[in-house]
Amino acid sequence: MKKVVIIGSGIAGATVAYYLKGQAAVTIICKGNREDSNSMLAQGGIAAVMKGQQAEKGQEPDSEAEHVADTLSAGVFHNQPKAVEKMVHEGPQVIQDLIDQGMSFDRTAEGQLDLGLEGAHSHKRILHAGGDQTGRQLTSFIHDQLTSVKWLTHTFALDFVIEDGRVVGLDYLDENHQKQTIFADYFVLASGGIGHLFQDTSNHATITGDGLAMALRAGCELSDMAFLQFHPSLLDGGKKVQPILISEAVRGAGARLVDEHDCPIMVGRSNQLDLAPRDVVSRIVNEQIQAGHKIYLDISDVVHFSQQFPAIASYLQQNNLDFATSQRIPIKPGMHFLMGGVKTDFSGRTGLNRLYAVGEVAFTGVHGANRLASNSLLEGLSFAKSVAEDILAYRASASQNHQKLKVRQNSVSMILPSRADLVKRTSETLGIIRRPASIRQFLAWLSTFNYQHLDPTCTDREQIETANLCLVAETIAKAALARPESLGAHYLLPEEEEPHESTSTGKN
Ligand code: SIN
Repeated sequence: MKKVVIIGSGIAGATVAYYLKGQAAVTIICKGNREDSNSMLAQGGIAAVMKGQQAEKGQEPDSEAEHVADTLSAGVFHNQPKAVEKMVHEGPQVIQDLIDQGMSFDRTAEGQLDLGLEGAHSHKRILHAGGDQTGRQLTSFIHDQLTSVKWLTHTFALDFVIEDGRVVGLDYLDENHQKQTIFADYFVLASGGIGHLFQDTSNHATITGDGLAMALRAGCELSDMAFLQFHPSLLDGGKKVQPILISEAVRGAGARLVDEHDCPIMVGRSNQLDLAPRDVVSRIVNEQIQAGHKIYLDISDVVHFSQQFPAIASYLQQNNLDFATSQRIPIKPGMHFLMGGVKTDFSGRTGLNRLYAVGEVAFTGVHGANRLASNSLLEGLSFAKSVAEDILAYRASASQNHQKLKVRQNSVSMILPSRADLVKRTSETLGIIRRPASIRQFLAWLSTFNYQHLDPTCTDREQIETANLCLVAETIAKAALARPESLGAHYLLPEEEEPHESTSTGKN
């Protein structure tokens, strides 16, 4: 039986395991508990055009062509159209497979899928579960199906072992901080993005760009690393409250972005108002905050807020943040999603033999310069199925016994900045608004450290994360400098220019 090691327990990695079930010996490695992933935090849902779904009263039926068009438009046509078509066409079948196995999405009284709306979608097409607990319910459902998988939790993947141009093993720190190596026929990177490179993020605490750094050290090509998505609405509950996501589905259900005077901030800025693409909304929220305003989601038009968004409501209540009386939730933008990543083909193959990448860590070209809301779970599901199929179809030479292989790297000592300094400088330099001169200064500062290779004697997870974050930050900074024109989420001020009033891309 083929041996497969999957790094990451979110929806992409878990779905690869789901489709390999019974046909391969699968080990899933994750940094924390199996629940510790961004997928578990996904609120809004999954965008999909499901077969047999009836159109809303008085509305034209949805179509794959329109989902493709919305994805391309939100991505400012920087997407790879064939990849978008694949995701939009194949994703719904994966969702249907899961529904057939018993996964349940929220439904109307008539039994139809209760579809939500989010920014830049021309139709209501967001499937959700438990109101705002889609990611948790879906990922847990898939985990529950993985009865034959071996889980290595609290296990920190470090570096691939490469022999004759192919990945044969993986060095990792086990739960006791001891260095180990696991050998397998195929490796799948599904380790997510880079959230904690930034001060404000919706991402899980374990998300520190580790898989991207491993891929870089292994010589893989990364693409579109300049494109980072900042979500417009993270909770701004003050210093003591963890800033969770306030789903875009809340705006889809009627909430409006207002300032401290209840003045709607999207009026006159975009034809799509509060449901403009994320990059546009985030820039406007950021601009308003920079100008000294407090920004809120006015939820007075959202019917039964606590029933529609039970997890958000409960978090606000637990933290004594009033929303019921004020009908307002304070928000700020934060790092949410990486559009770029490890370059893959449609089967998830990277440039390195026997290494696949899937989910946020991968670059498939579907998201372009700005991801359409709720396309990330769809990407994870659809491409994960292709990865599993490719692994099963791969005609490999007989697997060798690597148990006695001696894999050693040259000893290097790491010289690292403090995490706090790195995160502060990255947030100032590579955030929603970027300036070439600041990026150059940031790169000059990074060049005073030594983080390109991990010190093989280092077993301190915090230090290894910092080294990974430095390497990824350098890659993003270089990609941002190499792209002198603004596009989608990459918004670069011309040299010497200060922030100006209008930050809309003009096409919205
Ligand atoms: C949200 O619920 O606003 C986030 C969903 C997504 O990232 O697409």
